[in-house]
Amino acid sequence: MPTILITGANRGIGLALTKSYLKDGWRVLATTRSPGTTVAKGAEPLILDVTDPDSIAALKAQLCGIPIDVLWNNAGVYLDKNKPLGEIDDEDWVRTFEINTISPIRIAEALAENVAASDQKVMAFTTSKMGSLTHNGMGAYAYRSSKAALNMAVRCVEKDFSIRGISCLLLHPGHVRTDLGGSEGAIDVDTSVKGMRRVVDHVNTSNREDFSGGFFDYDGSTIPW
Ligand SMILES: NC(=O)c1ccc[n+]([C@@H]2O[C@H](COP(=O)([O-])OP(=O)(O)OC[C@H]3O[C@@H](n4cnc5c(N)ncnc54)[C@H](OP(=O)(O)O)[C@@H]3O)[C@@H](O)[C@H]2O)c1
Repeated sequence: MPTILITGANRGIGLALTKSYLKDGWRVLATTRSPGTTVAKGAEPLILDVTDPDSIAALKAQLCGIPIDVLWNNAGVYLDKNKPLGEIDDEDWVRTFEINTISPIRIAEALAENVAASDQKVMAFTTSKMGSLTHNGMGAYAYRSSKAALNMAVRCVEKDFSIRGISCLLLHPGHVRTDLGGSEGAIDVDTSVKGMRRVVDHVNTSNREDFSGGFFDYDGSTIPW
């Protein structure tokens, strides 16, 4: 039975990913920020505040020796949604970088041995098309810059981890109807997850060069940087 670890698994896209992999018989390690938060039935709940180094270290210790086929860095925030330039708070901008950019790399670093010890050896990072310089629109300075920086950081970590056979993929989930995406989102969580899984589930150690370091839309197309 393959194993996946999903961050931010209690709601939104993370919850839908959890349910989808459970349905296919995977062992799902579902992390949530706070104790007592509910995850999908059948998943194994684990505590992880993605910005807390002690929390990351505790998770690493807890998972020592457990192979993880797919590590899915999903947790994220959009703290400057609908805020024009003059209203963006410095603290929110820094917090956005901590959660969206730095934490996924620190978690990848902490769990690299687990992924390297697995059969599939995949790390998926949920980014956003809003981090694409080519597709840049207006506003969302903190969110856009955090995801553009995540894209670069994943391109760096991909090089570090390639020697261990690990594939690192950047996935845009689409504009999805969640708390973060809003009710105006174009697609539901199930459509997003089905699409992203078509990419992620296809990757293995023999085809990693075709996918690793790529920036993919949920429909499988490549997004320009
Ligand atoms: N929805 C969209 O249209 C869309 C588009 C492009 C990209 N994305 C990306 O997709 C990912 C998931 O978004 P979503 O729409 O599912 O958002 P969501 O419904 O708001 O869920 C966000 C998840 O991230 C978790 N999280 C936030 N900060 C955390 C922290 N410090 N430690 C641990 N967990 C934390 C939340 O936990 P709590 O419940 O504890 O807050 C929650 O589980 C994000 O990376 C987002 O940027 C979404």
